[in-house]
Amino acid sequence: MNIEVNSVEETQKIAEKLGQLVEPNMILLLDGDLGAGKTTFAKGLAVGLGITRNVKSPTFPIVREYREGRLPLFHMDVYRLEGMGGADLGLDEYFNSDGVSVVEWSEFIQDELPDDSLRITLLKDEDDDNRRVIKLDSYGSQYTQMLEQLTKKNG
Ligand SMILES: Nc1ncnc2c1ncn2[C@@H]1O[C@H](COP(=O)(O)OP(=O)(O)O)[C@@H](O)[C@H]1O
Ligand SMILES: [Mg+2]
Repeated sequence: MNIEVNSVEETQKIAEKLGQLVEPNMILLLDGDLGAGKTTFAKGLAVGLGITRNVKSPTFPIVREYREGRLPLFHMDVYRLEGMGGADLGLDEYFNSDGVSVVEWSEFIQDELPDDSLRITLLKDEDDDNRRVIKLDSYGSQYTQMLEQLTKKNG
């Protein structure tokens, strides 16, 4: 499913709706170039989960935990793991937990990821700085159902 947006606010609105729908143990993969809007999307998700603390890009450690919302949010940016794979870091403890894991640059830890997930790819527009295409691809029935609910909410 592709959603076209024309502003930061629209991106965050979609993310916020998704944040209201996510369930325990879900994993959301956020992909796209630098500046595509991955962290912007993660901020909207946090709002949807009822997290009031400002979500910042995780640097070191690579995971930030937010526990004041409807579900725990684990926000990861694994950019620094490029070429290292991410094995033995214990990231699976987050993936197997009851929280929601959001992973920026998930391609760098491909082999560590669970089979089922929602992949969110943000694509910039060559002509318009504020425009993005948000691609949502579900892997697994739980995620497909969530996208159906998102479509209803968004319609
Ligand atoms: N529609 C949009 N959605 C998301 N970000 C946008 C949009 N339009 C402009 N931007 C800008 O693009 C930048 C995205 O930065 P960020 O979310 O940190 O990207 P990433 O985490 O992918 O590197 C921000 O400066 C934001 O204001
Ligand atoms: Mg980022």
